[in-house]
Amino acid sequence: MLKDKKILLGVTGGISAYKAIDLASRLTKAGAVVRTILTKNAQEFVTALNFAAITGNPVLTKEFQLNEPIAHVEWAGWADLIVVAPATGNILAKAANGIADDLLSSTLLASPKPIFFAPAMNIFMYANKATQNNVETLKSYGHYLMEPASGMLACGYEGKGRLPEPAEIAQAISIILNSTRDLVGKKLLITAGASRESIDPMRFITNHSTGKMGLALAIAAYWRGAEVTLIHSWIDQSPPEYINAIKALTAQEMHNEVFRTRKDQDAIIMTAAVADYRPAQPQSDKIKKSGDLSLELVRTKDILADLGNDKLEGQILVGFAAESENLNENAKAKLHKKNLDYIVANDLAVSGMNETNINIISQDSQIEFAGSKLAAANQILDTIFKV
Ligand code: CTP
Repeated sequence: MLKDKKILLGVTGGISAYKAIDLASRLTKAGAVVRTILTKNAQEFVTALNFAAITGNPVLTKEFQLNEPIAHVEWAGWADLIVVAPATGNILAKAANGIADDLLSSTLLASPKPIFFAPAMNIFMYANKATQNNVETLKSYGHYLMEPASGMLACGYEGKGRLPEPAEIAQAISIILNSTRDLVGKKLLITAGASRESIDPMRFITNHSTGKMGLALAIAAYWRGAEVTLIHSWIDQSPPEYINAIKALTAQEMHNEVFRTRKDQDAIIMTAAVADYRPAQPQSDKIKKSGDLSLELVRTKDILADLGNDKLEGQILVGFAAESENLNENAKAKLHKKNLDYIVANDLAVSGMNETNINIISQDSQIEFAGSKLAAANQILDTIFKV
């Protein structure tokens, strides 16, 4: 999804500038053409040579060079997307206020397109009202802002301020470069992951779902401008911090959370692999082994069927059907039975960890799609919102 995309990477002077080398490498490996601008302070942490070697493309550090006299205008015009990572409080302040006093800030001012900022700084610098106002201003200008991650910061404090992982930034860039903000104003509830139903304090019943499809939908919808809520059971990888995520491990917890948050949602997409059964009597103490053991299971509530039975006006309901045989017939039967607008059927025999093979089925249409889960997520969003 990044092949031949022209990315201008602006690196500013923070301790996480070293992660920008990894980011440049990932973008380059994914086929993007990456040019880099380093601010004066960035060069205290990383060198122009790092980026020249990794990207194989030009790197600039100063304005008014004889061979590039008006680089800020040319480079801003060249880029499909300008990415500032890490973005210090200082560059956010300059960009929010139109200050152009070095090559990077002049380039940002000369850019006619939305810019992607990944801020990283000390927690108090980020929480400072001045920075928060600048962040809001930049968002109101149509720029993309990725929330910093929380954790241990280089300055010794713990909190929000870390640069998110380069893989996460590269994924967001890939979505932004392949879509527009066509879902602004939409509210979307997405469920993901594998239920965990307790047998005793040590053991539980679960399934093989990784939660990747639901996560891909949440991430794609977020960068396309939707207001996303993700309700998830066990998933292989933590959701990015910018996603509003609520944990609900069991079928009953997920039922509660879905019904608590369903009002005002334009669409609900249930990718979660919700347990159909749970142990009838979960034990509060660990079960000791003796002879054979049978486990009595009882049905859980079917969340999607309950949503379909009490469908809210105008709300789009989307189910998933993972099938190992008679894919389309089984999926269509679920579409009718649960009163859904769409069902996404995926063939267990063909789908893998990052790739998938889906059929998006409604009463009167059927769209087949094969590709990455992120691309499939975009196809599902295009189909249900008809964009
Ligand atoms: N689902 C749900 N609540 C449940 C079970 C499933 O909301 N207790 C949702 C899933 O999130 C999915 C859809 O229903 O979107 C299809 O789930 P699936 O388990 O395939 O369908 P079932 O109707 O349970 O049929 P079967 O297990 O017999 O294939």
